Amino acid sequence: MEFNVKSGLPEKQRTACIIVGVHENYKLSDTAKKIDDISKGYLSSILQSGDLKDKLGQTLLLYKVPGINAERVLLVNCGNDIDDNQYRKIITSSVNALLKTRIKEAICHLTYLEIANRDIAWKIKQVVEITQATAYFFNQFKTKPDDHSLNKMLFGISSNRDIAKRACLDAQKIADGIKLAKDLGNLPSNICNPSYLANQAKNLAKLHIKLTCKVLDKAAIKKEGMNTLLAVGQGSNEPPKLITLEYNNGGKAAPVVLVGKGVTFDSGGISIKPSKDMDEMKYDMCGAASVLGVLSVVAELQLPINVIGIIPSVENMPSGTATKPGDIVTSLSGQTVEILNTDAEGRLILCDALTYAERYKPDVVIDIATLTGACVIALGGHAIGLLGNNDSLIQDLLEAGELSGDRAWQLPLWDDYQKQLDSPFADMANIGGREGGTITAACFLSRFTEKYKWAHLDIAGTAWISGKKKGATGRSVSLLVQYLMEYCVK
Ligand code: BES
Ligand code: MN
Ligand code: ZN
Repeated sequence: MEFNVKSGLPEKQRTACIIVGVHENYKLSDTAKKIDDISKGYLSSILQSGDLKDKLGQTLLLYKVPGINAERVLLVNCGNDIDDNQYRKIITSSVNALLKTRIKEAICHLTYLEIANRDIAWKIKQVVEITQATAYFFNQFKTKPDDHSLNKMLFGISSNRDIAKRACLDAQKIADGIKLAKDLGNLPSNICNPSYLANQAKNLAKLHIKLTCKVLDKAAIKKEGMNTLLAVGQGSNEPPKLITLEYNNGGKAAPVVLVGKGVTFDSGGISIKPSKDMDEMKYDMCGAASVLGVLSVVAELQLPINVIGIIPSVENMPSGTATKPGDIVTSLSGQTVEILNTDAEGRLILCDALTYAERYKPDVVIDIATLTGACVIALGGHAIGLLGNNDSLIQDLLEAGELSGDRAWQLPLWDDYQKQLDSPFADMANIGGREGGTITAACFLSRFTEKYKWAHLDIAGTAWISGKKKGATGRSVSLLVQYLMEYCVK
């Protein structure tokens, strides 16, 4: 998609559609007012009919409005005194209204809306991210792709042109990183396997000189002593990979390390999952996809920092060589784990990657993982689960979530939960029972992250949408990019 700014009188703008706001009691926005005047009261007369319902985000598409050059006018109910989330709703439903037509291009006149503490750049960024996300279709495997045509959104703007243009360009880069994560998530596991993810990382490194990629194969992983990672991959014919992608643009500064769960298919292993919706376990690499998405954005934005992406990637399968419940394995940290449930595999690949992260002497480490079904139950599809060992890092991530709209919610990582992981045979078990499943999973990880500031994002509920509109969301890319942008100016 293409985004840009466009000045000039709204009534003169030649476009397929011009999007304008209407407020409570049919009060017209300035732009709508101008169009109304030119058309001799056409908009107000139509509004009198009551067809634009008095509900935030309702839209009404008008054709051939007299006296103006645009082919259509989309009226959007923008309510009054809106907040961040209401703004996002307004934009989403506007874009959805456009997608019901064959409109290819539109000019958005909704950046005038006043929202507390939000400037023009924020509003443009939201529109860009939402438009590209809403107009996204994964057509790669359709022999006859549907023709969804919206491919250009312009911002009708009369002042602050340079700021707006800059915001457009930056937001486009972020939206492209989100798209990369979605595309990877949506790919089926027969294509997107650990080797495929490794090649994607290598391709990114070819595109940007500040990115370097290294991939450890099975033998190298074994040599390192990453046995819990190996234990998860050993039932599959697909070889495991440990992918690192380093972005160096911050001199000698300690890096931010991002660790992404890259299980390209999670059958559960010997503790096999029920067959219903098992296809969705192709999304179990969305943490890895986020890491690749974020690193591509960081490289595009040329942020003045060092960021390391670490992706442990495996396929979790049952077979004669698979790990069996009760098996005991020594992790890279030296701690032993009794694997009571082979379906609690994410933490097993993450724990070795988190220990591996120590060698980068990180300033902070953030892992991103579709880790627990319990997180889906606790927070649903709206908030990312957030836990960690450092309050100020947690605070920064919560704020980045609010600002980007990619919101997270903190859960407690109290010591009280740790004993649920006790094992009679090893240093710990890999499961902690049904109660507080998201928390005990994070407790498990916390035993491998004591040497640095660490936060954990559980994206199990947010990384994809189920049902008819099934698909990856790219959630956590926007939050993490926002966090890193703020990190640069701290
Ligand atoms: N990848 C799953 C978590 C998951 C499940 C994400 C459903 C999204 C939807 C993870 O590997 C897993 O299977 N976790 C188990 C852990 C349990 C065995 C302790 C779970 O949540 O059921
Ligand atoms: Mn699992
Ligand atoms: Zn999993």
